[in-house]
Amino acid sequence: MSDPSPALDAVISRREALADGIIGLELESADGTPLPPFEAGAHIDVHVKPGLIRQYSICNDPAEHTSYRLGVLQATNSRGGSIEIHRSFTEGRRIKIGFPRNNFRLAKDRGRSVLLGGGIGITPLLSMALRLKRHGERFHLHYCTRARSHTAFLAELEAELASHASVHFDDGPATQRFLARKIAFTPEEDTHAYVCGPQGFMDWVIGEMKQLGWPDGNIHTEHFNAAVDSGGASFQVIAARSGTIVEVPPGKTIAEALAARGIDIPLSCEQGVCGTCLTKVLNGIPDHRDFFQTDAEKATNRWMTPCCSRALTPTIELDI
Ligand code: FES
Repeated sequence: MSDPSPALDAVISRREALADGIIGLELESADGTPLPPFEAGAHIDVHVKPGLIRQYSICNDPAEHTSYRLGVLQATNSRGGSIEIHRSFTEGRRIKIGFPRNNFRLAKDRGRSVLLGGGIGITPLLSMALRLKRHGERFHLHYCTRARSHTAFLAELEAELASHASVHFDDGPATQRFLARKIAFTPEEDTHAYVCGPQGFMDWVIGEMKQLGWPDGNIHTEHFNAAVDSGGASFQVIAARSGTIVEVPPGKTIAEALAARGIDIPLSCEQGVCGTCLTKVLNGIPDHRDFFQTDAEKATNRWMTPCCSRALTPTIELDI
């Protein structure tokens, strides 16, 4: 099982309005030393308040060692994290953050990269774009947003990334609209696509790409704000280390059912996105509902995410 990343002391050195409902935060280490290095696509845990940790992608160039830049959308379906950040994360405030972790890496064998972002999903892609540009690599970034007023990071996109980026506004002329079929052409072997955005955007883009023959291994994704579906039949979970058997009814997650019996699993996103709760499966078949593991990893049924995944068998035994 992976533990939540240990915390670092950081200070909010800058807060700015980036677009309607989106603020930018620049974080520096509280003692003025360089921050731990990060890779393009990485995210950090942000300790919003006691008991509330949320993940945000780092959107600056990984060559910058003194700050992490984040973009935070006040989500309409916020479970409290982004609302609290917008309300109380002011310049000069000290906060705890985790070490950078990366589930959304640039492929090692990449030739050309296609970056496809919807809304606030631009954040990890911006870091990738800045890194690829610095190394003179072939890439193009497509960024779909509702309207200019909702578009964060326009200054960077229209200046240093202008020749590598296209911004598509939903309310703009039809000629500039994003058409996945137009840009998601059948790839060369070393072309890799990176997709991040709201679930509907991702489902649509990935569906189009698969129809055009993109192999799964060339499409890399990062989900956020995933809806947790805790529906389905009841099953039993066995916590192997204590032998405790717990019933998990529909509407309850494994993590919730275990917590009610005093067995706590480290949690962070609680949406199957971050991998913090990843747990070894000893017996039984999981009903994987997370976005963290790849299809190949899920097919092994060796690990599961109890914050959202369920069981296909009447009983499932976990290494907890
Ligand atoms: Fe994030 Fe389970 S807590 S995947």
